[in-house]
Amino acid sequence: MKTETVVLTGAAGRVGSALREPLRGRLRRLVSVDRAPLFSGGPNEEVRRADLSSVEDVASIVEGADAVVHLAGVPDEAPLPDLLEGNVLGTHHVLEAARRAGVGRVVLASSNRLTGFHPAGRTISADAPPRPDGLYGVSKVAVEALGRLYADKFGLQVVCLRIGSMELEPTSPRHLATWLSPRDCAGFVWAALTAPDVTFTAAYAVSANTRRFWELDERLGYRPLDDAEIYAGRFPGTAGHLSGDDPQGGDFAAADFTLRHLSGG
Ligand SMILES: NC(=O)c1ccc[n+]([C@@H]2O[C@H](COP(=O)([O-])OP(=O)(O)OC[C@H]3O[C@@H](n4cnc5c(N)ncnc54)[C@H](O)[C@@H]3O)[C@@H](O)[C@H]2O)c1
Repeated sequence: MKTETVVLTGAAGRVGSALREPLRGRLRRLVSVDRAPLFSGGPNEEVRRADLSSVEDVASIVEGADAVVHLAGVPDEAPLPDLLEGNVLGTHHVLEAARRAGVGRVVLASSNRLTGFHPAGRTISADAPPRPDGLYGVSKVAVEALGRLYADKFGLQVVCLRIGSMELEPTSPRHLATWLSPRDCAGFVWAALTAPDVTFTAAYAVSANTRRFWELDERLGYRPLDDAEIYAGRFPGTAGHLSGDDPQGGDFAAADFTLRHLSGG
């Protein structure tokens, strides 16, 4: 499959902003899309301002693309109707538009929070059953299920990247396990776009952190370069943080984190 023209949704966001330059460097044409304003970063980058609120909105954008990297959505805990609209319906619009346009591959932004109730003391693979740590994680279960459906039923190639915590540098003790450096993020996304023989894959995208609790996926073939451990000195006294039966999601798994998004409190 050729990878020359790629559509990047959510390009103005945190992850999208970290990906635009590396993707421009490798692609013939990058189409960066967001409902927020964007300015082109080079001659091979086209920017489009659009809200992905219907299949028709997306269809004209993905026409002629080899692949789509779909990041746009609600990136954290929120009321379920917002997550269903932003993440589940938004993903459906992208997959259906890609199917209609004959796009070969779609990379979906999934999240580690889909498995945040697994114990931190256990290293899990992407084959472990979902144990979402909140409503946001539930929405990503549905995102991955949509991807699986479009792969099984329509032959679309789909890679779900369960992004860890993408930050310039770790900013909390949990990040010592979950950090995804920007360069490793770009490496995982490029591998997701180009790995051969993909029908459907879900894989964690996490740096080579000494304390990580997710297995790396051999199928994508990307070996992360960074390790959050070099920042461990910034978080003294946190050696036992998230261990044993503690949920991998940490504070995200606390009841209060979700209760404030439920009507009635
Ligand atoms: N940042 C992380 O560490 C992280 C971790 C796990 C998963 N993810 C996932 O990665 C993706 C990107 O996350 P982020 O942190 O960059 O979020 P972000 O909020 O910074 O960026 C999301 C972007 O999508 C755009 N957007 C949202 N809805 C849209 C719509 N309907 N139409 C057009 N544009 C729309 C927003 O304007 C924004 O620029 C999300 O799907 C998120 O769930 C991120």
